Amino acid sequence: TASYRIAVIPGDGIGVEVTAAARQVLDAVAARHRISLSYEEFDWSCQRYLAEGTMMPADGLERLRPADAILLGAVGWPGVPDHVSLWGLLIPIRRTFRQYVNLRPIRVFEGVVSPVRGARPGEVDLVVVRENVEGEYSEIGGRLGRGTPEELAMQEAVFTRAGVTRIVDYAFSLARTRRSYVTSATKSNGIVHTMPFWDEVVAERAAGYADVRWDAEHIDALAAKLVLQPERFDVIVGSNLFGDILSDLAAAVAGSIGIAPSANLDPTRTFPSMFEPVHGSAPDIAGQGVANPLGAVWSAAMMLDHLGHPGAAADIVAAIEACLLDPATRTRDLGGTASTEEVTHALLAQV
Ligand code: NAD
Ligand code: IPM
Ligand code: MN
Repeated sequence: TASYRIAVIPGDGIGVEVTAAARQVLDAVAARHRISLSYEEFDWSCQRYLAEGTMMPADGLERLRPADAILLGAVGWPGVPDHVSLWGLLIPIRRTFRQYVNLRPIRVFEGVVSPVRGARPGEVDLVVVRENVEGEYSEIGGRLGRGTPEELAMQEAVFTRAGVTRIVDYAFSLARTRRSYVTSATKSNGIVHTMPFWDEVVAERAAGYADVRWDAEHIDALAAKLVLQPERFDVIVGSNLFGDILSDLAAAVAGSIGIAPSANLDPTRTFPSMFEPVHGSAPDIAGQGVANPLGAVWSAAMMLDHLGHPGAAADIVAAIEACLLDPATRTRDLGGTASTEEVTHALLAQV
């Protein structure tokens, strides 16, 4: 029996609800595949921040370090500034554990109605490969003169040759396992200094993958094309901010951001990777039992795949497919009326 230690951080709001669902589905699948999962759950959240003054304890990262993988719900809650909750937990995990790939697959499933007319089930199947540790999300910058007429805020985007090279290589290698087509999200037409550098590295690396077709699209035009012709895309590689925006956009094209999963990967496997839905803590629906758990559940499937159990992962994805086919087990964000619990039961019945 293969056994793994999973660190679980449910976080805030619906993060708690969808993580509970994902754990139940994981347990059921693990039992069938003779995988043993032991969980250590951490209550690190905005609630903890309000009670104790920090999102996680001082040795929080060291406590995550021995885990084989991290399962996270979402963090962020009204009353705690987002920069506090995110720089206090999510971002340090991604950076310290060098999870430089944020992998975000998007599919229009059978049974899901996309708000985009041309996005038909089975035809849209793409993955956003988001650079996850540098770029626009830098610690260099700040705010001066708060509240004064001279107030200013600034932030430096940081792109390194090593950082761009490894994410581009990841995207091209991944494309080889799919439809061998990469689109690079860029903004090289103007005054953004970093993007011509990104483009140069992409072109250099692409030359080493003669069998992979590729192109580059300006981020604004790409956003429009994702809505107009989503079926055209296979692998989209983008910087931290561009990848963030494109992943919610593509998830909405695929019907709901409630389905979209993500894997924050350290491909070198030096550190634990982290698996979390793309969506946030959704304070507007938290506590009502109506959150769509499928993004968290699909993230759990990506975790099993990463741990070397593609068969178990495929069972979860098949259960998601079956669940979406039945109108009775679709949540509100998908036009249905099912609760989180009803969807979870349907998934458990499938796996
Ligand atoms: P959000 O993703 O939480 O919510 C956006 C909208 O989508 C809301 O209307 C919400 O109800 C809906 N939605 C999201 N997930 C859903 C689901 N599973 N089922 C049904 N509907 C769903 O984004 P936001 O409102 O911008 O952010 C809320 C908080 O979450 C903020 O504090 C933000 O910083 C945080 N956040 C955290 C993460 C993370 O931890 N990885 C990611 C995104 C946002
Ligand atoms: C995501 C989220 C985070 C990000 C926020 C909450 C910092 O939007 O995981 O997509 O921008 O990376
Ligand atoms: Mn996001």
